Amino acid sequence: MPASRIAGTGRYLPARVLTNDELALRVATSDEWIRTRTGIRQRHIAAPEEMTSDLALHAARQAIAAAGMSAADVDLVIVATATPDMVFPATACILQDKLGIGGGAAFDIAAVCSGFVYGLAVADKMVSSGAARNALVVGAEIYSRILDWNDRGTCVLFGDGAGAAVVVPAAEPGILTSHLHADGSHRGILCVPGQVRDGRVSGSPFVHMDGSAVFKFAVKVLADAAHEALNAVHMAPDDVDWVIPHQANIRIMDATMKRLQLPHERLIVTVGEHGNTSAASIPMALDIAVRDGRIEPGDHVLLLGVGGGFTWGSILLRW
Ligand code: UT7
Repeated sequence: MPASRIAGTGRYLPARVLTNDELALRVATSDEWIRTRTGIRQRHIAAPEEMTSDLALHAARQAIAAAGMSAADVDLVIVATATPDMVFPATACILQDKLGIGGGAAFDIAAVCSGFVYGLAVADKMVSSGAARNALVVGAEIYSRILDWNDRGTCVLFGDGAGAAVVVPAAEPGILTSHLHADGSHRGILCVPGQVRDGRVSGSPFVHMDGSAVFKFAVKVLADAAHEALNAVHMAPDDVDWVIPHQANIRIMDATMKRLQLPHERLIVTVGEHGNTSAASIPMALDIAVRDGRIEPGDHVLLLGVGGGFTWGSILLRW
């Protein structure tokens, strides 16, 4: 059966680090509150001149090099982002140009924090069917530009960054199964409701969130998505070596592991250093665990996405 696998990964974090203590100088919060409620200790913030496509470019180059390829080998570029460079064209088209390639398909995916899982699922289908030769999937975000820095309920949670993966055809499947879902009736609990209209931004251009509703929804659907992937390939939770959920809050991740009856040790956690980087969180965590040697050839890795929409999904990999 035609199949695909990830041949290389990469990541990029902007140089500027914003600590909880610095945030406590701006809004009524504390390092203690942020750490105990979320697990976040710091986040990275893009420089004013950096665009989402720039973050994506750094991560993409690393992933392409790790795959032992050159940019010219990539004929499909997918960028998952909720913070595109501009309304249009797609950030994927801008990234394609910055990579010095052209002619293949390039498009963005707007599935918010589930975006990388959505993008990887689409790339798997296109590469394994032969519709694309080699795909580049990037999750890249600059949330610092859509945060109300006076709203302590949201501004402490998010950070900027980019993660990337190169998907290639494979004789033995590396991407074992993928499952995507959405329920737009929950769109109001996590959204940026503004729109460009009549020459100005109409409505709020900032992240709005009902934190506890998001929390409950995320814990439920992440566990459901995990079981769905495992059932599809007749595996049990205990067969999974590593779980990489969307990095929003350590308490959401721990609750998901508890539901799966898996130990905390099998969780890859980056939220402490990165904050919630939306579509970039899963590929950055994957890249870190691959490069530091935790993920080894043959390991089963479960990716679990959840985000605004609401969207959610799972992908099971054999590394
Ligand atoms: O990618 C998906 C995006 N989002 C998420 O995944 C977020 C999901 N939700 C969460 O992570 C949690 O709900 C939060 C971290 C946002 C909040 O944690 P919580 O334990 O659910 O706290 P809460 O919303 O129940 O708020 C408790 C209190 C409130 O004060 P009162 O009303 O009890 O007096 C808040 O005003 O904490 C207050 N609070 C803060 N205090 C200090 C809210 N934000 C802050 C803050 N610092 N930054």
